[in-house]
Amino acid sequence: MLSRAAQVLTLADGELGPRAGAAQGALGLREQYSVVLQDGVIAWCGPADTLDRAAVDAGAGARDERRAEVEELDCRGKVIMPALVDSHTHVVWGGARKDELERRLAGADYEEIFAAGGGILSSVRQTRALPEDELYNQTHRRLSRMRAAGTTTFEIKSGYGLETETELKQLRVARRLQNEGGFRVRSTCLAAHAIPAEHRGSAEGRARFLALVTDEILPAVAREQLADYCDVFCDRGAFTPEETRVIFQRARALGLRPRVHANEFGHTGGAQVAAELAAASADHLLHLDARERAALRDAGVIATLLPGTSTVLGKPFADGRALVEDGVPVAVATDCNPGSCAFENLALVLALACYGCRLSPAEAVCATTHNAAASLGLARELGRVADGLQADLLVLETDDYRDLVYHAGSPLVHAVYQAGARVA
Ligand code: NIG
Ligand code: FE
Repeated sequence: MLSRAAQVLTLADGELGPRAGAAQGALGLREQYSVVLQDGVIAWCGPADTLDRAAVDAGAGARDERRAEVEELDCRGKVIMPALVDSHTHVVWGGARKDELERRLAGADYEEIFAAGGGILSSVRQTRALPEDELYNQTHRRLSRMRAAGTTTFEIKSGYGLETETELKQLRVARRLQNEGGFRVRSTCLAAHAIPAEHRGSAEGRARFLALVTDEILPAVAREQLADYCDVFCDRGAFTPEETRVIFQRARALGLRPRVHANEFGHTGGAQVAAELAAASADHLLHLDARERAALRDAGVIATLLPGTSTVLGKPFADGRALVEDGVPVAVATDCNPGSCAFENLALVLALACYGCRLSPAEAVCATTHNAAASLGLARELGRVADGLQADLLVLETDDYRDLVYHAGSPLVHAVYQAGARVA
C-alpha cells in the first residue's frame, strides 16, 4: 500500500480516450489519498482516512508470497502518479554517433550529414554488425536506466536494419525485452526509415527498396507477429507522401496500424497522410499550420511531440499550445535514438515540453501518461490511478508535481512500481 500521499494524480475524471483541449490539463488531483496495490493491479484509491485497514491487512495476510505488493510505503509529503509511458523510441541500436554530435554542435547540419551517408545510415551499419544477444544486452541496460527514471512502458521501433534480417533482429530484441526482460513493450516496424546505401542513387534502386519493404519485410514481420504498428519517416530526404501511402496500405492489410514521422523538416505532407489514414499517432510536427491541426483533430490522431530532439538538433519546438487550443490530443515522448536525441529521461523531456512547446505542467503529465498510453492502445490498462488498472506507479520525492518542471532534471523519482512490484 502507498499511504497518505500529499497529492495523487489520478487522471481518473475524464474520458477513456485521448484527452484534448481543457481535458488535457485535468489531472484529477486528490490530496491525502492512499493507493492499495494487489495482484499487480490498483485495488483501491481513496481518502487515506476512509481506508478500511482490516480489509487491507486480511488481503495482505493471504498474499504473503508477494511481499513487494503488500509492504506499506509512507507517502506523506510525496506525490503518487501513473508511471510514464514513452510512446516513441528507437532504443534498439548498435554503436553510437557521438562524433556526429560534436560535429553538429560545431555547426554541421543533421539533414546534410544524413544526405552524405552518415546519420541514420551510420547506425544502420553499426546495428547490422551487432549480434542479437549483444543488441539485447545493450538495450536492456538502456531500458533499465529509463525505467529507473520513471518509464515502465515503451514503444520501440526498428529502422536501423533496412533489410529483412536486421529489421527482424531488432523487432525480436524488442519482443524479448518484453518476454524475458519484463519491460512493457509495443513494437513498430520502421523499415521505411531511410533508403539504405545499397539502393541509393537511382530511381530503380528506390523502387526496389520500396518493394522490399512492402513485399518482403512487412509480410515477414506480420508472419512472425513481431510488430503492432508500422511507421514511415515521411519527410524531406526520406519518403514522399505517395510512397508513405503505398507502404501504409500494405501495412494495414497485414494488420499493422500506422504511426508517422511527420512534418519535422517542413510542411512535407506527413501530417496530412496521418490524418487521411487515421494514424494512431503523428510525431515531431515542428511545422504545423491551423489546417493541418484541424485535420489531425478531426481524424482523431494523437500528436506526439519530441522536444528532446528539437533541443539536441537546435530546431524549433512544436507548438504544443496551439495543438491544445485547437483540440488535438497531445502525447510527449523521448524519441530516444542514437542520433537526433539519445535522452533516456522522459521526466526531463516532460519539462522540455513545457519550456519548449508551451504545455502546462498538468498537460505535460497527461501527455506522458494517459495520452501516451492511449496512442499505444493501452488506455484501459495503464496511465491512470483507478481501480483495476495495472499498478504502474511513481512516487515522487516532493509534495507538488509541478516540481517535475520547476526543478527539471532533478532526481525526484523516489520509487517506480510496475505491476505492483517495486522495480526501481
Ligand atoms: O525520429 N527523424 C527520423 N528518425 C529519427 C532519427 C533517427 C536517427 O537520427 O538515427 C527521429 O528523430
Ligand atoms: Fe523518431
